[in-house]
Amino acid sequence: MHEKTVRVELDTRSYPIHIGSGLWEKYLPPLTANAEVALIADANISGQPWFAPLREKLTVSAAKLLPLTVPAGETTKNLTVFTELCSALAKARISRRGIIVAVGGGVVGDLAGFVAASYLRGIAFVQVPTSLLAAVDSSVGGKTGVNLPEGKNLVGAFYQPDAVIVDLDFLPTLPPRELAAGMAEVVKYGIIKAPNFFEYVKNGRPPDLARVIEKSVSIKAEVVANDEREETGLRAMLNFGHTIGHAIEQTAGYGNWLHGEAVSVGMIGAAWLSHRLLGLPLTVARDIRAALTMNQLPVTISGLDYDQLAPVIAVDKKSTGKKVNWVLCPELGRTVQSTEVPEDLLREAIAVCAGRKEF
Ligand SMILES: NC(=O)c1ccc[n+]([C@@H]2O[C@H](COP(=O)([O-])OP(=O)(O)OC[C@H]3O[C@@H](n4cnc5c(N)ncnc54)[C@H](O)[C@@H]3O)[C@@H](O)[C@H]2O)c1
Repeated sequence: MHEKTVRVELDTRSYPIHIGSGLWEKYLPPLTANAEVALIADANISGQPWFAPLREKLTVSAAKLLPLTVPAGETTKNLTVFTELCSALAKARISRRGIIVAVGGGVVGDLAGFVAASYLRGIAFVQVPTSLLAAVDSSVGGKTGVNLPEGKNLVGAFYQPDAVIVDLDFLPTLPPRELAAGMAEVVKYGIIKAPNFFEYVKNGRPPDLARVIEKSVSIKAEVVANDEREETGLRAMLNFGHTIGHAIEQTAGYGNWLHGEAVSVGMIGAAWLSHRLLGLPLTVARDIRAALTMNQLPVTISGLDYDQLAPVIAVDKKSTGKKVNWVLCPELGRTVQSTEVPEDLLREAIAVCAGRKEF
């Protein structure tokens, strides 16, 4: 199959995203002579059949290889594990010419990226995303960090990788539920910026995964290139569905609902608000719901309750002052941001997300 490369254009921090089969051998470090490589993966990943050859290759080609394994799952994205990883690098005397290679999903990528941003004030970093969500979203754009008990991703840094390698040969071992969770972000790209792409993915995951990933990262790369640090408001459009989604993840406890599943339900809430506030046609809101269902995603979570979710939404880190910055969609392919969502409409939206209100 063809190899595709999408570039994230950020002046001196520009980098390629390589997408295709059998790419890891071609693009993995050593990117520089005498590279010291810290290979960070979670326990699931290090047990996959394709991981051992990758580690072997690095053992042979790197001047020093430090393999580090963290427990799998969202609860690993914390300051304790971050500190342990930094200490391991220090004990192994990884120097400034060290390279961190993060192999895995968004948890490993976010965590390892924050280590790369922090250790010795920043060392090189290569992302090898192996979940669909990481391939289409978290590995691109430079947001790294960990969670606090007070909320998700509250500590972190913007730190762009030197390269992203999406090797499609790693995806077949991904559990179907995780694959579906990645499709939530794919459907989101269609909703916020690409109506034709929405059409392409709305009937369920299309067979050409390379095309799905290439289009998704192209959209993310363009947005990030124009608003790297979420300063102009452009990048915030990527948060469509995430305000309620993050609150669901937090109130349900990290790990019970996958990020993509929570975002899927969050997009239903955002679609409802878009309908009520901006006139998004009900037919389109229903199309969004159908697209998520066709992609094996939940569109309601029973038991969601306004009194429980609203305070969590209120401290969403994208808040402007005291107001939450909602990303809404007046029509497919376009978003607007608003801090004006009345309480009664938020109550309705949460009732829709809980399956208590039909639309
Ligand atoms: N940095 C960003 O811009 C950004 C964007 C979106 C999400 N995120 C973060 O990403 C995280 C979620 O990422 P995720 O959904 O990839 O979760 P994850 O990293 O927990 O991976 C999901 C599970 O799939 C397993 N896995 C991954 N690839 C596999 C493969 N090829 N074969 C078998 N098993 C595999 C992992 O071991 C894990 O158990 C969240 O922490 C979220 O906050 C970050």
